[in-house]
Amino acid sequence: MEARITGRTRLLGLIGSPVAHSGSPAMYNYAFARLGVDYAYLAFDIPPQGVAEAMAAIRTLNMKGFNITMPHKVAILPYLDGVAPEVELIGAANTVVQQADGRYIGYNTDGKGFVYDLEAHGYSIKGKKLLILGAGGASTSIQAQCALDGAAGLWVFNRKSPTFDRALAMADKIRAAVPGCPVQVCDLADRAALLAAAADCDILINTTSVGMHPHADSCPVADEVLDALRPGTLVSDIIYNPPRTLLLEKAAARGCPTVNGKGMLLWQGVEAFRLYTGITAPVKEVREKYFAE
Ligand code: ATR
Repeated sequence: MEARITGRTRLLGLIGSPVAHSGSPAMYNYAFARLGVDYAYLAFDIPPQGVAEAMAAIRTLNMKGFNITMPHKVAILPYLDGVAPEVELIGAANTVVQQADGRYIGYNTDGKGFVYDLEAHGYSIKGKKLLILGAGGASTSIQAQCALDGAAGLWVFNRKSPTFDRALAMADKIRAAVPGCPVQVCDLADRAALLAAAADCDILINTTSVGMHPHADSCPVADEVLDALRPGTLVSDIIYNPPRTLLLEKAAARGCPTVNGKGMLLWQGVEAFRLYTGITAPVKEVREKYFAE
């Protein structure tokens, strides 16, 4: 470390609360050292009411950029100097990069992480019909990116809750921004709609927390929904703990290819790394060191 940090080293970081559990500092600093690029990355625990002060400090310290995690992904937006098109649509940023002219611009790499990971597994979302379970933060990023990247249509299922109403508003935004991508928002309890969507979709994506540790014995849909999938339908779960959720177990038992959420995490970081440094992260090494199953 003492040989790597110099008087010219640029600072990057993570803001959120809590952040002590984050694996990002280790991963970024490993990649910087591995590639010999002159950055350092630290995590900063910023309370919910501290965003304005944090942004002022970031400007004072002339930081190169930062990642944003809960609870600041939306609250940061008014303090930025501009946002990328996907942030316009999603309404949240997870990466901010200082441009050559000093302006801080917000990006959201969560949806790109999802799309790049499917590509790494040999699947394109172009022209595909997607059935998305859940409509929270991660789902919103995936919906927006997949629509922007040419998905043929989206069905979004959520239980009737405030999230359902936000999903309706999000669908209107996607329809306006990407008219070629029809979006339908349905009640997760609407059995007929869920079975019809399952029979017609190319990719089923779980973005709900159902099936996540310590509730690994639960599955977001009934068996009949999985039985309705066409052979070869890709089933993706953004959960990575456990690495193989009950949903993925059941889908694999029916012969469906499956992808878990680890790669989305890896690839959203790879995209942020590219935005910060202009170069590609050492994906293979980072995957082996931090994402081994
Ligand atoms: P993330 O940032 O990971 O997307 P989130 O924004 O909290 O997390 O979204 C979690 C999603 O899981 C939401 O769609 C949530 O639905 P509600 O907002 O209506 O609760 C969904 N979810 C969580 N528990 C669920 C359950 N038991 N059944 C169905 N959906 C559930």
